Parts: sequence; C-alpha cells; structure tokens
Amino acid sequence: MRILVVGSGGREHALCWAVSASPLCETLYCAPGNAGIAELAELVAIAAEDVPALIAFAREKAIDLVVPGPEAALVAGLADACAEAGIRCFGPSAAAARLEGSKSFMKEVASAAGAPTAAYARFEDAAAARAYLRVRGAPIVVKADGLAAGKGVVVAATLAEAEAAIAEIMEARVHGVAGASVVIEECLEGEEVSFFALCDGKNAIPLGAAQDHKRAFDGDAGPNTGGMGAYSPPPAFTPALEAEVMARIIRPTLAEMARRGTPFRGVLFAGLMLTTDGPKLLEFNVRFGDPECQVLMLRLMSDLVPAMLAACDGTLDRFSLRLYPDPAILVVMAANGYPGSYAKGSEIRGLAEAGAVPGVTIFHAGTKPEGERVLANGGRVLGIGATGKTLAEARAAAYDAIARIDWPEGFCRKDIGWRALAPKG
Ligand code: AMP
Ligand code: GLY
Repeated sequence: MRILVVGSGGREHALCWAVSASPLCETLYCAPGNAGIAELAELVAIAAEDVPALIAFAREKAIDLVVPGPEAALVAGLADACAEAGIRCFGPSAAAARLEGSKSFMKEVASAAGAPTAAYARFEDAAAARAYLRVRGAPIVVKADGLAAGKGVVVAATLAEAEAAIAEIMEARVHGVAGASVVIEECLEGEEVSFFALCDGKNAIPLGAAQDHKRAFDGDAGPNTGGMGAYSPPPAFTPALEAEVMARIIRPTLAEMARRGTPFRGVLFAGLMLTTDGPKLLEFNVRFGDPECQVLMLRLMSDLVPAMLAACDGTLDRFSLRLYPDPAILVVMAANGYPGSYAKGSEIRGLAEAGAVPGVTIFHAGTKPEGERVLANGGRVLGIGATGKTLAEARAAAYDAIARIDWPEGFCRKDIGWRALAPKG
C-alpha cells in the first residue's frame, strides 16, 4: 500500500514508525514531516492544512490510505475531501471533528449520549456569564467555545479569576472568534488520563491509555504546554475503568454521532478525570494526543495499518488490538523559552549515541535536516522514548539517552512519570 501521513510532530514520527513497520506498507510519504521522519518516509513539502494540495498529491501518487495527525487538517475537511476523491482516510469528517472543534457541541453530544461529564452552561453574553459565575461560585472552569490551540481553558480557583477569564475570552477576544461564546463548567477533581479508542462510525475498540504532563517545569509548575512527556499505562486506569469508559462514554457517543448523521471514524481521544464518583469526560479530541501517541505506538504489538483500514471500512467489530505489557515513557526536549518565544536553527548532536541506549527510541518533533546535521525547528523538538520491564527502568533508559544528547539550547523535565513512580502525595 501507498500511505500518506500528514503532520510534522513527534506524534507523526511515531505514526510513521508504526506504519512503516507494517508488512502492508510499501511506500510511505509524510507531509511535511521532519528530520526524523525523513529516515522512514519520503517528505512532501505540503502544509498539513493545505487540503487541495494534499488531495492533488494523493491522486498523483495513487495513495491508498491517508493518516492525518493534527486536528487542523481534519477541521479543514481533509477526510471529506478524501472521501470525495475516493481515497481512504483514517480520520473524521469536518462535521464529526466538531467534537473537538466546539466545546458546546461536545457537551451537547455527551448529554444526549448520557456520558458522565461536568455540569455546564453556555453563554454568548458576558453579563449573563458573569451572573452565572456568581451563582455557581469558585472553583469553576471557563472555556472558550471554539478551537484555541489548547489555550482557551481557565481553571479558576477564585471568582475574580473566573471573571477575568470572561473579560479576556469574550471581551478582549484573546483567542479571536473562538471566544464568541464560552462554556462554564463544574470543576472536577481527580487524576487525569488520556484514553484512546479506534472508531469506524459504528464500532469502537480500545487502544489504550496514557498520562501526559502539561506544565513546562518540574513539579507540574510553569505555563501550560502541548505536553512535556507521557507514559503508559497509567496505573490508576484499571481494566475495569477502561470497560466502564467504553460502555458509558465511547460507545454511547459513537451511537449519538451516528444518529445525528455524522458518524465518527478515526481515533477518539477522551480526556478523562478519574473522580471519586467514577470517570468523567473532560474533553474529546478527534486525533491522537502528542506525546501520548508516542508511548502508545511503543507499546503496540498489533499491526496498526489493518486496524486503520478496518476503521475506514466499518469492520472494526472483527478486530482487537494488543499492547505489550511493558510500560513506555516519553520525555520531551524543548527549545529554551518554550512555550514562550524560542530560537530555531541550533544544532543537535549525539542523537545516534543516545538512540543506541537499549530500549530507547527517539522521535523527532520539531527538527529539520540540513545535510548530515539535525537542526531544531520548533518548540517541542525531540521526544526521547523508552520501554522497560518497569516504568522506573524505562525512565532510567530515557534519561540515560538524554544525558548523551549535546544540545545546550534545549531543556526537558526531569520528573516525567512522577505520578506513577512516586508515592501518591
Ligand atoms: P480541555 O482542553 O477542555 O481538556 O481543558 C484543558 C485542561 O483543563 C484539562 O486537561 C484539565 O486539566 C483542565 N480542565 C478542563 N475541564 C475541567 C473541569 N471541568 N474540571 C477541572 N479541570 C478541568
Ligand atoms: N497531549 C495532549 C494533546 O495532544 O492534546
């Protein structure tokens, strides 16, 4: 098969790594890709959101399967355009991608499906939103309704913080039109888990769960990022919890989406809070998480390609996926300054030596090849992945590899996996 992966991050490197290992994959392309992906796939200089150019390329090369990484491509209608062109695409239509693109749509669907989620209300008017805040009190969560690059959520400890969020989101429009309306919801407490299911429109099968680390610095301090590290499996997410999430959240959501005439195909990523009252849905994403994808791919024993084809063809009911029991970890190395402003173009050395540490796999996130050299080309630049008999062993291998990487312009967290390794505090 001729397969095209779309995107350029660590997630897409991990997808290319899994896809290229499949005996079904004859030729692999990645648009636009990065320096690490270049070792597995032919890079194509097309941006992930440039749907017309991607379709023209897929037609020209007679691509059999398109695998979109980022939500932007899906929200832009890549799956719809593939369907029109008669090309299989492992991802949802733009209409189904609204599960991620609109917080209020996700809440409507979750309510109709009876999926446990935080109580909420939606407002288009700032004064009405403020009045509701005063009735509910703090802590409370304020979310821009639309896509805000993961930055539109304020977990407010006080009423003043919540009111400031209304002013920023609705009045100052710091996230643009995404803030034309807000969702205000109950603040949930517990441990957060990212759960992934493959869906074919009617059927869903579990892929696995991971935990990521959103904050930039050790001890979960500092600004929010796209994710500084991840590990899988999360010890708190038992098989019984997985079965409950499939039965109460994933399958009812799939049924509700089908009932609305917008069946969901692809990977459904449920952000969950494990509360004392059971697992509750925080959000849906319509794609793999980054860096969660990397640890899931490291643990995946089954061939991903036939599973993605079954998701495209509506035959997932005859499928199951197997993971290795060994835990996996991924530590992100980011450019100094990330998630704020950072420089591009510094050289990274020592990658071959680091990659030779037993159990280690290095995924590139924001790099670009320049001859033999690898240059930093983004905020999150590398993901150092490792597996081991225990999470502690995997973590030791990942940090051993990092010690061999010569890149003074970058940093990483030193405590990835702490929730699962340190005694609960
Ligand atoms: P979201 O983009 O909706 O997942 O929100 C980003 C982050 O905000 C989540 O990963 C949670 O850490 C936090 N969050 C979102 N909704 C809630 C909630 N209802 N209660 C507590 N924390 C929340
Ligand atoms: N790591 C969280 C995300 O990809 O949204």
